Amino acid sequence: MKKDLPPASVASSITSRSFGTTAEGRKVTQYTLANGNGATVSIIDYGGTITSLKVPDRRGKFADVVLGFSKLADYETKSPYFGCLVGRFGNRIANGIFKLEGKTYRLPVNNGPNSLHGGRGFDKVVWNAKPVLAKQGPSLKLDYVSKDGEEGYPGTLKVTATYTLTNKNELKLVYRAKTDKTTIVNLTHHSYFNLSGQGTGDILDHLVTIYSDKFTPVNQHQIPTGKITSVKGTPFDFRKPTAIGDRINEKNEQLMFTKGYDQNWVADKPAGHLGIIAKVEEPQSGRVMEVISTEPGVQFYTGNFLDGSITGKWGKVYGFRHGFCFEPQHFPDAPNHRNFPSTVLRPGETYKNTIIYRFSKAK
Ligand code: GLA
Repeated sequence: MKKDLPPASVASSITSRSFGTTAEGRKVTQYTLANGNGATVSIIDYGGTITSLKVPDRRGKFADVVLGFSKLADYETKSPYFGCLVGRFGNRIANGIFKLEGKTYRLPVNNGPNSLHGGRGFDKVVWNAKPVLAKQGPSLKLDYVSKDGEEGYPGTLKVTATYTLTNKNELKLVYRAKTDKTTIVNLTHHSYFNLSGQGTGDILDHLVTIYSDKFTPVNQHQIPTGKITSVKGTPFDFRKPTAIGDRINEKNEQLMFTKGYDQNWVADKPAGHLGIIAKVEEPQSGRVMEVISTEPGVQFYTGNFLDGSITGKWGKVYGFRHGFCFEPQHFPDAPNHRNFPSTVLRPGETYKNTIIYRFSKAK
């Protein structure tokens, strides 16, 4: 009698192909990492951008769970930060102004009165990329040197970002940076997820847990007021799994300022320690994503600025709230708030940030 054999395990691999040429004539390459379980992630060296991420549902059916484009020109001209590496400073800096060691710095303003996501930032440059078949899984090591004064920030900043698709279906992002002058740094990742599959509609049915009892409310310009407020009794209380759509349309001043969720939660764990920040479950597909990070905060953004004007991969039209982001980071506008964890990096120090998106199935 023939015995049932375990399924043949597919070895992990890394393949690459051309992803076009930038308007400035730089060649861009897409790398696809495949782990032994059939999960894949595609990354382009333009902006360290994740262009596709395929993970299984509860029946083992794979879907691409991130929004994105099939053409480089779309990433260059119309991307609302789909899948990119955000830096030198993720999130908003009020009026683009901050003080450091007694000097005032003025950054180019690109979001109403604010500087958002580092100006023409790390999402708009071509990184050096080196594929590595590491023990944990296939990996891509990216590096970039941001010049002293680039986009208004002081100091030459040497950045590395290592993306690994582990054999446990985790997308692990490890960031390191060093500077030669005192500067500010706040790097993060900006994938828009839809766990039922990209382009399948809105994300309002996803059940979200955020392991946090405090958040940082904002003003009408989406700049933190400086207060650190309890989530208790507010639509920001996600301590128990709650559908995104349950309270998103409540007449709440914070939700109205941001047209949905777009706030920073304070992670309930010691600073610098790797710990769980959030968990998302999509009930139909059974896909589950946990967000694990060393960062002290997380921006939860529900795609409130998507409005159907963008057509992405496979001709999918991305409408209002068709994707959500969990961006582990230091708090927005941190350089202008003494009570927020510091984002200052000095020569001799190493900036460290680890973000893990772990995929599994609901029980
Ligand atoms: C971040 C911000 C949002 C929005 C997106 C990009 O998540 O918090 O307000 O600007 O980036 O559209």
